[in-house]
Amino acid sequence: MEELFGVIGDPIAHSMSPEMHNAAFGELGIRSVYGKFHVTKEDLTDGIKGIKALGLRGCNVTVPHKTAVMPLLDEIDPLAEAIGAVNTVVNREGKLIGYNTDGLGYVEGLKKIVTGELSRKTVLIIGAGGAARAIYYTLASLGVNKIDLTNRSKDKAVDMISSCPASIQSCYLDLQEAEANLINYDVVIQTTSIGMSPNGHQSPLKVGRVKQGAVYSDIIYNPLQTSFLKQAERSGAAIQNGIEMFIHQGALAFEIWTGQKPNIALMRNVVLKQLGG
Ligand code: ATR
Repeated sequence: MEELFGVIGDPIAHSMSPEMHNAAFGELGIRSVYGKFHVTKEDLTDGIKGIKALGLRGCNVTVPHKTAVMPLLDEIDPLAEAIGAVNTVVNREGKLIGYNTDGLGYVEGLKKIVTGELSRKTVLIIGAGGAARAIYYTLASLGVNKIDLTNRSKDKAVDMISSCPASIQSCYLDLQEAEANLINYDVVIQTTSIGMSPNGHQSPLKVGRVKQGAVYSDIIYNPLQTSFLKQAERSGAAIQNGIEMFIHQGALAFEIWTGQKPNIALMRNVVLKQLGG
């Protein structure tokens, strides 16, 4: 029988997940369909009940529901619990289990561009929102032990550091201090919404001198190159935009649902085509 999947969020019209997953299902000969569901905050409880009632096999959860969905599920994976957000739900015989594949998806992408062992790198994360938390806790759980944070609001970053379950060395820097100390970091990860289209010319900080062999990454993929990435490239860093994170979080969700590995190259092509690249 055909199985149903989908993504729930508000707004949802521009989600690229349906095309990406449907292409991957098709290529593996899996007779499943992935749709998008516009679910408002008010309707979230009913929307989640609907997964069981309608027999969906799984779904992705996106903004603004990643945290609010948690108490509505039957079980939460420990990493998602630590991150405090769920982006993937699987329906196992009527039991809804929540996972977070954002952080692991990000790391899968990052591994392609970082040379040498990730755990030995000195990392700076810019931002302290949901995406930053997923990346920070995932890197910490994988043994990266020097991850500093910079954010406009100090209290959010400090709270993130103090509630990290893994043992880790982290300092908070304000944005000016971070800008002045970029030379110390092997990997710098931009997770704020600054620089997202139509504000592609904005950047959370100026990138001047970078460490030899440094990798600068931005989780934004629209535009494909933010001002932050352009500056980093001019300074000699290797750069990566948010497409790899998007594809790999989807691929990990796909694996949780089906037990099969999707074709990553195909998923990338579908996403690039949608972005007009
Ligand atoms: P997400 O869940 O997508 O990570 P979020 O939780 O809204 O989004 O977090 C957005 C991040 O971008 C935060 O780090 C936020 O900084 P604050 O914690 O100070 O709010 C950062 N951010 C957004 N707009 C910003 C701006 N104009 N200047 C500086 N930081 C900004």
